[in-house]
Amino acid sequence: MSDFSLNHSEALERIRSANRLVVLTGAGISAESGIPTFREAQQGLWSRFRPEELAAPKAFQEHPRRVLTWYQWRIKAVQAAHPNPGHLALAELEEKVSQRGASFTLLTQNVDLLHQKAGSKSVVKLHGSLEPLVCSSCGKPSKFNLAGWNPQSKLPTCQTCRGLLRPNVIWFGESLDPDLLEQAQQASIRSDLFLVIGTSAVVQPAASLPYLAAERGAEIFEINPRTTPITSLAAYHFPAPAGKILPKLMQEAYPGAENAQ
Ligand code: OAD
Repeated sequence: MSDFSLNHSEALERIRSANRLVVLTGAGISAESGIPTFREAQQGLWSRFRPEELAAPKAFQEHPRRVLTWYQWRIKAVQAAHPNPGHLALAELEEKVSQRGASFTLLTQNVDLLHQKAGSKSVVKLHGSLEPLVCSSCGKPSKFNLAGWNPQSKLPTCQTCRGLLRPNVIWFGESLDPDLLEQAQQASIRSDLFLVIGTSAVVQPAASLPYLAAERGAEIFEINPRTTPITSLAAYHFPAPAGKILPKLMQEAYPGAENAQ
């Protein structure tokens, strides 16, 4: 017997009838594409690497070559990765929801662009994206291909101002783009159904968005094999990998859907 307020068929009906659906994703949705998460024991990036040495402005100032070499490894992994059935089902959900005139917003903390590769359109990249690189001085985007860079050669610089190039991601101690954050908060406040998928929901301000939605009356659903701080807020929790449950939900909510398996 679960403590959640909805049963499975009621949850499906909510997905079918939501007017303003918001989805928040984290690293867990890309796990089945072979991209490591951050906080899981053993395979999580932050159990193998120290974030303050690789994902912080001071680390880049002091050891830019080390930081860029690590991001080169991550970019190569992401370039080789494909969207999994979870990403594809979300792109399809967006299409179905939009077709019936309802609104759909995908807020992602992921920097791997796999949602976009899967065909999702309304994506708010809260933490930026690994590519393209940007200038650390003037902020201008660059076409520099970090994947093809030789880490023993000179550091990549901006063609305009000669500043060092960096990945366009939010590092520890940095703030989110205020316009994107505002967009995410407004979508959350207006939502009537808010799906939280594959995030440990501990990194702010993204982690506060489901609370913002719940305070304004949205129902929260969570898809995560584990429980998180969000679980107690959720009207329904699907305790399964996103790549398994999302296609199944799509098939149940929209029988005959293209990517349903
Ligand atoms: P975490 O690594 O903190 O959490 C990943 C979550 O995904 C965990 O709760 C897992 O249980 C869950 N998970 C694992 N496999 C899954 C699957 N197949 N389907 C569904 N869920 C699964 O990653 P995030 O919450 O995304 O920030 O981390 C948030 C931010 O912390 C990241 O964006 C990154 C990191 O520092 C920056 O780089 C700015």
